Amino acid sequence: MTKRVFSAFKPTGRLTLGNLLGAIMPAVRLQDEADCVHAVADLHALTIRHDPERLRARTREAATLLLACGLDRSLVYVQSRVPAHTELAYLLESTAHFGEMRRMIQFREKSARQEEVRLSLLTYPALMAADILLHRADAVPVGEDQRQHVELTRDLALRFNRLYGEVFTVPEAVRPRVAARVMDLSAPTSKMGKSDGSSAGTIYLLDPPADLGRKVMRAVTDSGTEVAYDPEGKPGVSNLLTVLAACSDRPVESLSYGSYGALKRDTAEAVAETLRPVQERYAELSADQAELSRVLEGGAALAAERVGGLLAEAREAIGLA
Ligand code: AMP
Ligand code: TRP
Repeated sequence: MTKRVFSAFKPTGRLTLGNLLGAIMPAVRLQDEADCVHAVADLHALTIRHDPERLRARTREAATLLLACGLDRSLVYVQSRVPAHTELAYLLESTAHFGEMRRMIQFREKSARQEEVRLSLLTYPALMAADILLHRADAVPVGEDQRQHVELTRDLALRFNRLYGEVFTVPEAVRPRVAARVMDLSAPTSKMGKSDGSSAGTIYLLDPPADLGRKVMRAVTDSGTEVAYDPEGKPGVSNLLTVLAACSDRPVESLSYGSYGALKRDTAEAVAETLRPVQERYAELSADQAELSRVLEGGAALAAERVGGLLAEAREAIGLA
């Protein structure tokens, strides 16, 4: 049977090189062999403080970018347009336990940094599980930070199946060949993330070419001069090697450099070459907003049609009239 692939992207900020290398590029490759569905997870963006207008704009930008990155042979839609996601999420909240949700690393880290923690930040992995299980996905391309949530999804699927009957397909996370965790260029011990501020260490997919080059050339490197892949001892250099390997589709071991400067120049060029076609395609797609609306509305309608059967099965199994 054809494999089914699902993944999603939160529009909490602008999509980054981490999103591209960690999840979007692996998903683009899977399109040749699998039935692929991708969503912009706007409901997930409500888990932290947000601005409504900005969320709307970022959601549209992210959807356009997914298509521009090459996911145009996938079904792409905006999560909140398909209410089955929230409905199944409630059934999964009623399958999950408070203890396991509270222990999720991302919840612990994010809640520790805020004074007012939204309840949806705690329940969010149940919504993510609903996203995946609704589509009966076998494979979920995600970066390292989301692996624990995919593990939880497996646990919830198995528990629900055991309690109420075989309804869900148990999914597996797919990790990228390289770049499962792209680090911040200016703080290479932290993940490259997409907060809306202009971070010097984050490459956004829509950064102008001059900014891309500048950010790479200013990347923090490590003491010493040897270019070696050693994520513990040399996180900055190792991150550049990873980015270069992923952007040029070569294994890290095949890269050999005599100086940091040469490594940075080649990395800057490889990043620019990777993002140029994405930005060109983004500009083309953005020029026709009516067509884009049609694609997204059509995607949501098709997704709603595809997941209706699974939702009905889950409702029936758990005992809803
Ligand atoms: P998010 O932007 O948090 O919605 O993440 C969407 C997808 O991109 C998930 O599969 C993440 O694991 C992946 N991702 C986000 N940031 C990075 C990063 N710095 N390195 C690798 N993958 C990432
Ligand atoms: N929670 C993911 C993130 O923050 C985004 C996401 C939502 C997702 N639903 C998903 C990823 C389903 C994979 C599958 O990165």
